[in-house]
Amino acid sequence: MALLTVEELSVTYHGRDADVRAVDGVSFSVEPGEVVAVVGESGSGKSTLALALTRLLPSPPAQLSARHVRFEGMDLFTASEGQLQRLRGGRIAYVFQDPAGSLNPVLTIGEQLRETVERHTDRRGRDAETVALTWLERVGIPPAQRRLGAYPHEFSGGMQQRVMIAMAMASQPALLIADEPTSALDVTVQVQILRLLRDLQRRFGLSLLLISHDLLVVQRLAHRTVVLSRGAVVESGPTEQVLQRPAHPYTKSLLDARASMTWRAQEPPGDG
Ligand SMILES: Nc1ncnc2c1ncn2[C@@H]1O[C@H](COP(=O)(O)OP(=O)(O)OP(=O)(O)O)[C@@H](O)[C@H]1O
Ligand SMILES: [Mg+2]
Repeated sequence: MALLTVEELSVTYHGRDADVRAVDGVSFSVEPGEVVAVVGESGSGKSTLALALTRLLPSPPAQLSARHVRFEGMDLFTASEGQLQRLRGGRIAYVFQDPAGSLNPVLTIGEQLRETVERHTDRRGRDAETVALTWLERVGIPPAQRRLGAYPHEFSGGMQQRVMIAMAMASQPALLIADEPTSALDVTVQVQILRLLRDLQRRFGLSLLLISHDLLVVQRLAHRTVVLSRGAVVESGPTEQVLQRPAHPYTKSLLDARASMTWRAQEPPGDG
């Protein structure tokens, strides 16, 4: 049985002058242990979709509707706010693009991790700190014991994103939603973070909803790919099929844009 089933999800932002239908009748599912990518150009509605799943969008201006959004047997569109709050950062965890903006600058890494562990598991105090330490080590931050006392600004962007991933994982999620998790990082760091996500996903049998505009990222990680254009799904299927034999012209244009970027990156710098 699917872990997450989304049927006919729509989101409209009501503005003073105009309404924007940011997500338009989207349906898809995520199986246990599956990596599903959502791709699309900037403004296609990826982040809105990610936030709408757990009704994280302020309403107004956002107006949400869905036939249903089902997760572990619960309909998230009829669930109470209390149920949703337990779910968010719990069985459904998020990792966003900007780790610095997601971490609390006045709390140490250890305090933030311990707080997450205490909120979402039955571990407390020193016991929770041990769990926090374990997660720091698992995401590749050695020597973790000393790092627990560090503040976010003492870490590089890549290390901060590792901490965010540790926080997300510490609540033992079944589904991790990663919205452009590597877009703000240097290229070499991007590869390391993607490898970490893939390793954690495999080791813990996690389901991953990976949101990206970068088809190379998607190709590395995703079993299935959903292509969004102007809020609607234009194509979906096994990643290999979608990327190698795209059926929709929009997907082809995304692939062409990617190919020309790669080509340019390989050219020596010059004025050409
Ligand atoms: N709070 C808001 N109020 C009004 N319109 C919004 C709001 N947030 C997003 N939008 C609009 O909704 C559409 C989808 O935006 P969204 O941020 O979901 O796209 P995205 O695919 O995540 O883009 P990006 O790749 O740049 O992150 C865009 O047209 C955007 O301008
Ligand atoms: Mg976005």
